[in-house]
Amino acid sequence: AMVDKAGYKHFMAKEIAEQPTVITNALDAYLTESGIALPEPGLDFRTLDRMSLVACGTAYYACMTAKYWFESLARLPVDIDVASEFRYREPPIPDRTVALFVSQSGETADTLAALRFCKGKAASVAAVVNVTESSIARESDLVLPIHAGTEIGVASTKAFTCQLVVLLILALKAAQDRGHLSDADLAERLVALRALPGLMNHALATEEPASALSRKLSEARDVLFLGRGAMYPLALEGALKMKEISYIHAEAYASGELKHGPIALIDEHVPVIVMAPRDALFDKTVSNMHEVMARGGRILLVSDQRGVADAGDGVWESLVLPEVDPFLAPILYALPAQLLAYHTAVAKGTDVDQPRNLAKSVTVE
Ligand code: AGP
Repeated sequence: AMVDKAGYKHFMAKEIAEQPTVITNALDAYLTESGIALPEPGLDFRTLDRMSLVACGTAYYACMTAKYWFESLARLPVDIDVASEFRYREPPIPDRTVALFVSQSGETADTLAALRFCKGKAASVAAVVNVTESSIARESDLVLPIHAGTEIGVASTKAFTCQLVVLLILALKAAQDRGHLSDADLAERLVALRALPGLMNHALATEEPASALSRKLSEARDVLFLGRGAMYPLALEGALKMKEISYIHAEAYASGELKHGPIALIDEHVPVIVMAPRDALFDKTVSNMHEVMARGGRILLVSDQRGVADAGDGVWESLVLPEVDPFLAPILYALPAQLLAYHTAVAKGTDVDQPRNLAKSVTVE
């Protein structure tokens, strides 16, 4: 069926707004009354020692986030690679490794080449895709659809959060199979997951302030994104989104890495967007923010009410999200990252849905 903008100015705006709905669809597809059900033939993590996650662009950042989940929740070692590097490095693929490829389109040439390299080597080849009739889906042993619906905007939004949800469910399944998650703990995490679409609606309600802040961001030449733990890949995704559609130079660093070099870039002209829920690592991030502020840097803090209060004075601007389970924060915080990039691009008057030099699906290596 033809997809239209449904009254939105751009497909990207529509796709950002659709996230509570499509996330609900993804949850419905994988969660049962009592637990998690994967499509056939499923995946038994008791027989696996290692995972290799491979993708490009935004899908790669979803893999990078998932590494934090698989390792901390399921104690399962995970390697992550961008597809264009993975294949030609000739990496060893030990037995009892599952190779998992993440792709919205399922047609990305680099990812497909990496998948073909793994066939016959990995114990199993699995794909997390949006387009289930795609080459990557067809050539995989196990297909895990993300249920995002057609994504038209070149800048991926709803596919990213749906990829994250499916990968998180997979990590919970791995934790359960490997004996690291009791039934009661799993049930608690699934309740939290079920509450995510409602929290996303609250996050979408920051659109007004996000758009006001974006008018200020649109004057910057460079923007830095910072995050710690599973928020670090999200910082990378925020920077990618900003680059793709606003053409502003944006980079991301792990908050703790700033002092090892990039802090030399900081002055009053560089907005620093810090994605930091009030979690166990928050105090460390606050001291990183003080290092930036001491050099005249302008901090835009994206956090919850407690985080904004604890960060104290000196923060340039803040955006307040609802409190969320730390393991769900990278999914929820994707929304303000998308909104900031979107409204910065709108303020700059770029072609948001069809940014220059980019294609929705990159079918050449
Ligand atoms: C995301 O905003 C990008 N346009 C791009 O990085 C994309 O995620 C990448 O090309 C991978 O595409 P795929 O998910 O269709 O494989």
